Order: sequence, then structure tokens, then C-alpha cells
Amino acid sequence: MPHAKLTDRFGRTVNYVRLSVTDRCDFRCVYCMAEDMTFLPRQQVLTLEEIARLARNFVALGTEKIRLTGGEPLVRRDILELVREVGTYGLRDFAMTTNGSQLPTMAESLRKAGLQRLNISLDSLDADKFRAITRTGNLSQVLDGIDAARDAGFRGIKLNTVVMKGRNDEEIPELIEFARQKQVDISFIEEMPLGEISEHDRGLALCTSEEVRNTIRRHHELIPATEDSGGPARYFRMPDSEVRVGFISPHSHNFCSTCNRVRVTVEGRLLLCLGNEHSVDLRRVLRGHPVTDDKLQEAIIRAMDLKPERHHFSSNGDVQILRFMNMTGG
Ligand code: 5AD
Ligand code: SF4
Repeated sequence: MPHAKLTDRFGRTVNYVRLSVTDRCDFRCVYCMAEDMTFLPRQQVLTLEEIARLARNFVALGTEKIRLTGGEPLVRRDILELVREVGTYGLRDFAMTTNGSQLPTMAESLRKAGLQRLNISLDSLDADKFRAITRTGNLSQVLDGIDAARDAGFRGIKLNTVVMKGRNDEEIPELIEFARQKQVDISFIEEMPLGEISEHDRGLALCTSEEVRNTIRRHHELIPATEDSGGPARYFRMPDSEVRVGFISPHSHNFCSTCNRVRVTVEGRLLLCLGNEHSVDLRRVLRGHPVTDDKLQEAIIRAMDLKPERHHFSSNGDVQILRFMNMTGG
């Protein structure tokens, strides 16, 4: 197949696709889900073969980077088969976002199946606070998972922390020390208003990246990293460590002009922007008769015209996007 390029109306090249493989999760993080979630019935969810077919066609259109997300990708049965398949596509980057709970048993198989990098969510190092934030999560299992991932020899491991005032903002120094000790990168994320939650007031809980940086600077100098990830995170280093500290600031930093990514939900909805509702139903194409790769690629190319110029999140916590993060894929 020819290596085409996906470009949108604003001249941005899309070469990064995030594929959600399930809306389910063994955790119920307060910023991601409501306490009682209803999950999708199976027939609405793409099969692993359908997801692989999408991945293959994106690669034919110039995708160099694929990330598998959820929900929690590792609760999807037979996920290793998909990883193995995508692992053969010769991607420049192949990563997964996970909550880490299944890593103690799965890290090594994932690495062997060709996965290159892992982002592991870690919002607290205090077992009780960790439980309160994830509602069902077990901290020691996740810590074991982080160790298993390090032992498995991934090319990169990054921790993701969503910072919330009064919840885990006090722990920023400990999380930094943990990352330094484990020699893994860490990113601090501003909470985004995705899906309506009643558990906390996002307007009050918002801890900006600026505030997080000021906290860290009481302990460590932060030197802006020169390399540009091309992504939404801005990276810094400390003078005495290789560890990178990233900040993802959807409220305070507009990274839309260099956006190179799209997402596909587990229902096969192609989302052109995290902060907008624009989407295209690829499942309809995948399940149409006859399905051809040409048709699929045509639909993907046409969808690029819908990619909006930028997102607009307000910081008062108002929900503008009704889908939850578990539907969107981290
Ligand atoms: N805002 C910011 N990040 C979120 N995540 C989930 N929900 C939100 C939200 N509302 C991120 C967390 C988690 C990953 C799977 O998605 O960082 O680690
Ligand atoms: Fe699960 Fe990740 Fe959502 Fe937490 S943030 S409930 S771990 S999908």
C-alpha cells in the first residue's frame, strides 16, 4: 500500500493514533468515571480484528505512532494478540497507557510482544489516598507493576499524575523522588472536564501546571528540556538526574497548533480532538458490505477535514464534553 500522508485543513500532519481497546476498567478514578458506570454491550465494541484492521490502514496512511488506551487496555481479553499484531507494523513508536494493575503478570509478555513504551497512571504513593482516588485500586499491586515494567526493559516508562487540590497536590515532592529513584519519567496533568462527575468540583480541584512547577522548584531546579516531544507535554530536567518531568496543561497551555494526533474509541468513533465532539463513525464503514481497505482509508482521509483548530476547556469545571475519559482513551 502507498504511504500517503494525513493532513488537515490547518496544515497539520496526523501521524499519531490512539486506539481505545475497551471502555472497561478495574479502577473507577474520580476524575475519569462516575461511581456506577454502565459499559458498552459487546456488539457495539470493535473486535480485536477490527481494531487491527484500523491500525493497519492508519499505518498505510502514514501513521508512525500508535498508542493503545482504554479504559484499562489490559482488562481486554486477548489483548496480547493485538499487541503482537501491531508489533509487526514496524512503527517508530508503539505505546500503551495503563493503570498498572495487571503489569505484575503482563509486563514481560507485553514487552516480548513488541510494545515499546508504557505510561502508567500513579496519582498517590499513600495507599489510602490511592484507594480514595481510584475507588478500587490497590497501590502495592501498581508499585509491583512499575517494577515489573522496569525489569521487562521497556524503552521508556512514564508515570502520569493527575493533580487535584486537596487530594494529591501535597504529594508532588514524594512523587518526584519516587520517579528519580525508579529512573522513570513523570508527567503532571491538569484535570480536564470530560464527562459529568459529581464526586468533586473540578473548578476548585484544578491545580495548574504553574503551581506544580513552583512546588517542585522548592526542591529541584527545573531546566526546560531542549527536545520537543511534538506532543502536548512540556518537559523539564533536573540538574542531577536523567529523569524528565512533563506538564500537560490543557487549561493553561494551548498546544493545539502542533497537534498530530487523532483517537478512535472502542466503538470505532474517530475523534478528531479531545476537546471537541467532532467525530466520524468508522465502525459503520468497518461493518459495511463490502468492506475494503480503500473505503476505510477514504473515510479516514475525509475525516481530517473535520479536525478543529483548537480545544476550548474552561477552568471553572464546566463540562463541555459529555463523554467520559474511559470512552475517549486517555
Ligand atoms: N483529566 C485529565 N486526565 C485524565 N485522565 C483520565 N481522565 C482524565 C481527566 N478528566 C488520564 C489520567 C490517566 C489516563 C488514563 O487518563 O492521566 O492516567
Ligand atoms: Fe481506569 Fe484509567 Fe479511568 Fe482510572 S483513569 S478509571 S485507571 S481508565
